[in-house]
Amino acid sequence: MDHIPVARPAIGQDEISAVTSVLESGMLASGDRVKEFEKKFADFCGSTYAVAINNGTAALHAALLAADIGHGDEVIVPAFTFVATASAVAMCGAKPVFADVDEQTFNILPAQIEERVTPKTKAVIGVHLFGQPFNIQAVQECCESHSLKLIEDAAQAHGALYNGQKVGGFGHFGCFSFYATKNMITGEGGMVTTSDKTYNERLRLIINHGQSEKYLHTRLGYNYRMTDINAALGIVQLKKLEKFNLRRRKNAEFYNANLSVQGLIIPTTAAGVSHVYHQYVVRLTEEFPLSRASFIDYLKAKGIGSAIHYPIPLHRQPLFGLDNNPDPCPVSTRLAGSVMSLPVHPLLDQKELTYICDTINRVK
Ligand SMILES: Cc1ncc(COP(=O)(O)O)c(C=O)c1O
Repeated sequence: MDHIPVARPAIGQDEISAVTSVLESGMLASGDRVKEFEKKFADFCGSTYAVAINNGTAALHAALLAADIGHGDEVIVPAFTFVATASAVAMCGAKPVFADVDEQTFNILPAQIEERVTPKTKAVIGVHLFGQPFNIQAVQECCESHSLKLIEDAAQAHGALYNGQKVGGFGHFGCFSFYATKNMITGEGGMVTTSDKTYNERLRLIINHGQSEKYLHTRLGYNYRMTDINAALGIVQLKKLEKFNLRRRKNAEFYNANLSVQGLIIPTTAAGVSHVYHQYVVRLTEEFPLSRASFIDYLKAKGIGSAIHYPIPLHRQPLFGLDNNPDPCPVSTRLAGSVMSLPVHPLLDQKELTYICDTINRVK
């Protein structure tokens, strides 16, 4: 059996042709392909506007800046997520405040947000972690009652549904990443969705040097533009996204039905959501026969890739330099010590899925 990687980009001849035609056109910067991608992505998410950007971290940074987050402000974020959710807050000079997550769904707990609101709190970033929407209704209610902005970090959840509606269209902003392992990819890339005209205008200034007319700079901005090369890839990938997500869901269902080892807990899906399995994340308890490190080595020796998302919760990252006694986010700490991601990408075939389940079920 060949090595089965934990992630693999699904790129076909149509992506290659789309990129080639941009290269042949001579328009390599931000042009018509970017405009077309923005329009199609906004329609897909059900938002009025979508602003293409050069990665998901820049998407979060630009959204926070457009929401006027800056020095002295606090933004509540989950402790169990990728670092960019919180580092984007720090990039604005604001303070990320960490909230704990639900042990079953891995997503931010609304009650934890409520406990951490202070007069300095200006926004909440909820993360649809691993492709599963967080409890949007409860978080939205909390934000409304304290007049906070809601930013959805949908970097891992393109096309996921909450009560039948696509994520990215619920908050004041939705932030996406198209990094090479995501459910749809452009190499590096991102998008900010919003239905607010003023936010759309601010975002366009922020991503382009604060330039309101040629060489007239009305605010501090950045070069966060996407290129037509990336957008051409994104347009083709967006067409395939539903098919990719269906494959990911079917792969996850196969694992759910076939993985059976004591001490290995399969992921839980909340009611009312459609999970798009950016990652298939299991938890290992003390009853599991191997330590996590030995299990990873065992799978590697059998040609199966795996990963840990994420081994250190954000409140324990040296970057944030916090005193964590007593631990303010014990569930996140526990998850960081027990989770493991198995391959779930859309290119897995039936033989590989069966082989992975058989190999895992043989662990003693
Ligand atoms: C939850 C989350 N937020 C933000 C990002 C940042 O996206 P990018 O890597 O495109 O900057 C990622 C990327 O891995 C992510 O997983």
